[in-house]
Amino acid sequence: MSDNLKESINLDRLPEHIAVIMDGNGRWAKKKGMPRVFGHRSGVKAVREITEAAAEIGVKYLTLYAFSTENWNRPALEVDALMTLLVKTIKEEVKTLNKNNIRLEAIGDLSRLPEKSHMALKEAIKDTSSNTRMTLILALNYSSRWEIVNSTKQIAEAVKSGKMEIEDINAETFSAHLATAKIPDPELLIRTSGEKRISNYLLWQLAYTELHFLDLFWPDFRKQHLYESILDFQNRERRFGKTSEQLT
Ligand code: FPP
Repeated sequence: MSDNLKESINLDRLPEHIAVIMDGNGRWAKKKGMPRVFGHRSGVKAVREITEAAAEIGVKYLTLYAFSTENWNRPALEVDALMTLLVKTIKEEVKTLNKNNIRLEAIGDLSRLPEKSHMALKEAIKDTSSNTRMTLILALNYSSRWEIVNSTKQIAEAVKSGKMEIEDINAETFSAHLATAKIPDPELLIRTSGEKRISNYLLWQLAYTELHFLDLFWPDFRKQHLYESILDFQNRERRFGKTSEQLT
């Protein structure tokens, strides 16, 4: 079943960049009468599935929303567990990332992560920096409004110090100051758990992105769900403000 789906994908029209909101770990665990942390741990399996499937098929960039700026407001026990899980997973997966030629990157206010998490992340980024098959980007302590405010401050500084003219500010120079400066905008966004929101994620970068919402909780996400999402993307007409006739 999953193989049939995979074979139906047109490899010449793959989304180069897929962004994901991994939602529903807590609800998945609750449904099973388990603590929320169990849901996050099971979510790691789904992270492996999507990373492997995306790399195999030829996607170049995969961005996963792993921890938002707002997630600090969760109970301290859950935040600690998420950070511990993150460090553990990153350390465990570096070998596999290297074996599969996958580069790790991160976007977000990383300096405000706990020291241990920040160090593990920096080390994994360094250790995988020469890999070329796919870039796996973790959005960590990330929020789009933080990113946009941050870029605006950098641009204001550049203008103030005479390095940039106001006339030089445009969509392109603005993008170049975002955390995703060297990464193309996502063509496809996938969100699990049935919620239909963007939740402060890549607001600028998602301007023309196709949105795909799945009615399953993140720990249940498997390769076939990625294939289904890509097939749905390939069946849509992306007009970028033009008419259908202009595209043909
Ligand atoms: C959303 O589910 C999930 C998160 C906030 C964290 C995602 C983290 C992982 C999958 C594990 C570690 C990831 C990596 C990349 C190593 P939720 O808690 O919001 O679920 P709910 O909406 O049901 O409460």
